[in-house]
Amino acid sequence: MTTAKASFSENKLPDGPKAPALFQLINWIAHPFEYLEECIDKYGDIFTMRLFGFPPLVFIANPQGIKQIFSADAKDFDVGRTNDLARPILGDRSIILMDGSHHKKERKLLMPPFHGEKVKSYAKYICKITEKVASHWEINKPFIARDVAQEITLKVIMETVFGFSEGEKCEQLRSLLADWLDITASPMRSSFIFLQFLQIYLGAWSPWGHFIRTQQQIYELLQAEIEDRRANPEKLGDDILSLMLEVTDEDGQSMSDEQLKDELITLLVAGHETTATSLAWAFYWLEKFPEVKEKLLREIDNLGENPNPIEISRLPYLTAVCQETLRLYPIVPIAFARIANQDMEIMGRFFASGTTFIPCIYLTHHREDLYPNSKQFKPERFLERQYTPYEFIPFGGGVRLCLGYALAMLEMKLVIASVVSKYNLELADNKPVKPMRRGGTLAPSNGVPLVLTGFR
Ligand code: HEM
Repeated sequence: MTTAKASFSENKLPDGPKAPALFQLINWIAHPFEYLEECIDKYGDIFTMRLFGFPPLVFIANPQGIKQIFSADAKDFDVGRTNDLARPILGDRSIILMDGSHHKKERKLLMPPFHGEKVKSYAKYICKITEKVASHWEINKPFIARDVAQEITLKVIMETVFGFSEGEKCEQLRSLLADWLDITASPMRSSFIFLQFLQIYLGAWSPWGHFIRTQQQIYELLQAEIEDRRANPEKLGDDILSLMLEVTDEDGQSMSDEQLKDELITLLVAGHETTATSLAWAFYWLEKFPEVKEKLLREIDNLGENPNPIEISRLPYLTAVCQETLRLYPIVPIAFARIANQDMEIMGRFFASGTTFIPCIYLTHHREDLYPNSKQFKPERFLERQYTPYEFIPFGGGVRLCLGYALAMLEMKLVIASVVSKYNLELADNKPVKPMRRGGTLAPSNGVPLVLTGFR
């Protein structure tokens, strides 16, 4: 990070669309990929978008600029206060709303269950849960890949967070969460998140009323679980809730129930929506390009009967299929916004303290100099070239790098391998599938209908 020596008066934001801010916001909500492409074609890989209700946002789709941001010191940028849109969903005490020492402390607390050996220990659950869910598929009866993937990923995250993935409590929470997050299931519905004036209570059956009521029910279930564990210490295990219940700060204070609930919601939401969507895309590409699936099956078959899940997770072509899935339509099109805490220089330009930057994942993943024929699904590109953490950025980077990236990659690999090596699936129809906004994420428009045609 270079601190700007030039004077504040030199600060001039890069060019960008001149349309009214409301029009820019509508485009951003309704056609994010097309709009981003229009902007980069017209203004280059650093441009300013002006979205109604937001400060000017400097989008960066250049690895050098992204490196300057991701490798900066935590104190150089604030991130938590830019994530305000997530507040109604995740609550006031979520890690993603924190900055500085609070954020650092919270990451230290939440990180261990998502890394190293601990993540690998979830491998057997992931395979078991996938097998159980897939066992309900019936020949020639179509199902929606995204729904099934969501059932799997939610069960996996519940196993890591609560230490259980089955039973009445689990089922209740699973269906409430699915219902609750449905408020973001289309571009129209996503407006509730972007336009705060829509967040008004017009009775229990109005969209926002339903959202609030379901959220309350989820909080009640979480509260009951917290109280049950506090009252019965023998129920504490090595899951994340147990760890959070045991931890105390320097003053010996343990986490309040409110804090616990907000972090639980954060992990449950961040930990399953994104991975479910990426799995739906992966199944789409594998059925769309049978030669990729054939090559993948040969690689998996080479491991022999009953391969070890960790061996599966190390397969190079399987890894490349997951990376290419996350590259082409990154589930989250942009990383968190970063607000500069001082005047600074980025990509040779001067910016004043207070400027908001957006590392643009989608546009970086479609740079022709890095990814030739970028619209083509070609996992081989990841075998032919090693990309830097500023060129391939589906999980963001720096001090805010996705907390669950190792779990997400493991899940993607094991769910894909478990399914394709046992079940013959096909796309249930040939209708074109497009990325469509689903809250902050971009999901396949039809959820990817699949049909089981037989067994391997
Ligand atoms: C394919 C799946 C996933 C994708 C594409 C994804 C993507 C991202 C991205 C882009 C960020 C912002 C990073 C930045 O701005 O630098 C993020 C942050 C985060 N992700 Fe994920 N994520 C995925 C799965 C998960 C899972 C499984 C968890 C489970 C715990 C998770 C938890 C989080 C959390 C807690 C943060 C906030 C980190 C912080 O503020 O320090 N994510 N993720």
